[in-house]
Amino acid sequence: MKKLKELMTMKQESIKISMMTAYDYPSARQVEEAGIDIILVGDSLGMTVLGYDSTVYVTLDDMIHHAKAARRGAPDTYMVVDMPFGSVGISDEQDMKCAITLYSETKAEAIKIEGAHLELIEKCRLIGIPVVSHLGLTPQSVGITGYSVHGKSKEAAEQLIQDALAVERAGAVMLVLEAIPSDLAAHIAERLKIPVIGIGAGVETDGQVLVYHDVLQYGTERKPKFVKIYGDFRPGIEALKTYHEEVRAERFPSEEYIYKVQIMEKNND
Ligand code: KIV
Ligand code: NA
Repeated sequence: MKKLKELMTMKQESIKISMMTAYDYPSARQVEEAGIDIILVGDSLGMTVLGYDSTVYVTLDDMIHHAKAARRGAPDTYMVVDMPFGSVGISDEQDMKCAITLYSETKAEAIKIEGAHLELIEKCRLIGIPVVSHLGLTPQSVGITGYSVHGKSKEAAEQLIQDALAVERAGAVMLVLEAIPSDLAAHIAERLKIPVIGIGAGVETDGQVLVYHDVLQYGTERKPKFVKIYGDFRPGIEALKTYHEEVRAERFPSEEYIYKVQIMEKNND
């Protein structure tokens, strides 16, 4: 497993960091086997595998349930798990309880927090929980901000730069930037010492993250501009149709799939 220190070194040496979501055992195994640097158990699982139309319905228990499965599939990959909607911003005490629970129960290497929650990031650092910050488009705030590209005005860009510097000062160990202009992302990556991982943020960040189900076309129809498709799970449906037809037609199970041991008495009547 890459340690945080190695990920820092990768930034310093301009070696790009790859990050991919995984929410369960088989996908996490695949991501680990592919040699991807970081697994993100993202709350995007609310949409991709739980069928919600937003991430705001995902609970802390959902995140723990999925992260534990991913952990079993990828014991040797640096794993980051999202703090879901409603687990941040209630009160210091409640937020910290959620952070500690998520971190300790999932055995993730770090937790990810949307928005510049500086005090929470600082408190986590003080007790030893590595925090990945997530700025730019933050899907948990979609009810207020919508899904559009962020940081497009001069003021918004300046605010984002200030937030990025502030989360680093507060102790964030990494930053995810989502859906912002590439030149702004490049500027932020250059200003920060911590690795900056982009999604829809151009090629000059220190690494990239994408959603497994998007890149493999696994149950997702939406395709944001920044998603590149690398595979196609959709033909799986044809296999299922064939199975269905073969069961109906008694073509399955054929000889090779049957245990043939004479157990029952032959009926000689
Ligand atoms: O939940 C998620 O998958 C994420 C990435 C898109 C960064 O937060
Ligand atoms: Na997320």
